[in-house]
Amino acid sequence: MLKASNITKRFGELAAVDGLSFEVRKGQIFGIAGPNGAGKSTLYNLITGFYRFEGKIEFDGRDISGMPPYRIAKAGIARTFQIPQTFPSLSVQKGISVGSRFGTAGGLDPDHVEEVIRFVDLEKERYQKTGLLNLLGKKKLMIGAALATKPKILMLDEPMAGCNATEIRNLMGLIARINQDLGVTIIIIEHFMKVLTELTESLLIIESGRKICQDEPVKVVNDPRVIACYLGDG
Ligand SMILES: Nc1ncnc2c1ncn2[C@@H]1O[C@H](COP(=O)(O)OP(=O)(O)O)[C@@H](O)[C@H]1O
Ligand SMILES: [Mg+2]
Repeated sequence: MLKASNITKRFGELAAVDGLSFEVRKGQIFGIAGPNGAGKSTLYNLITGFYRFEGKIEFDGRDISGMPPYRIAKAGIARTFQIPQTFPSLSVQKGISVGSRFGTAGGLDPDHVEEVIRFVDLEKERYQKTGLLNLLGKKKLMIGAALATKPKILMLDEPMAGCNATEIRNLMGLIARINQDLGVTIIIIEHFMKVLTELTESLLIIESGRKICQDEPVKVVNDPRVIACYLGDG
């Protein structure tokens, strides 16, 4: 469904993504991990059209390399950011509606916004200002705004960052339901290995912009190259 072929992104001398190739299949939960600075968020910026790059990215058989972000969103790729980005003075309902306006062909669909609010379990908070939500609420809002675009692929960038064990359980349940009940393919960058081994079907490890390995998560976490570069650093 999403295929990256030999993609490279340079910032001056630094190749933040360096000749990376991988493929995400339809219906998968696909994990990405690697040390800080490995190029994970940059990779998301390439897929979603924020930077130009060398190589090719195909989505649903179509070359999306070089397309502007709004067209890539319209094609069905949505993302969330590592740091929750909300409009603090908007209500939850408006905040999710903003998502449904960005990149979707039909514009605002109030019934769908309502479904999304229910799906992410923010019904009680719908008239609250998003800036007043707790951390879990902000994360659910951000996921809701992405879902409001009716994506085929949802890309999550460290969705569990800063969360406690209960919040992590809650978000893992939500992500699994998005995949199973809504049929959305998911790519997730995460530091918590346990989250990745429980949720994902395939796990890609990158370091310095390069692929270390990609396999079933149980195999990946026992791979000596992964232990050396990732698990070994604390
Ligand atoms: N806009 C940018 N300009 C210059 N360097 C960048 C930029 N974005 C990221 N980098 C660098 O690229 C590397 C990868 O960063 P990033 O993709 O954020 O890593 P990760 O998300 O895996 O922690 C880092 O060395 C970072 O400093
Ligand atoms: Mg990052």
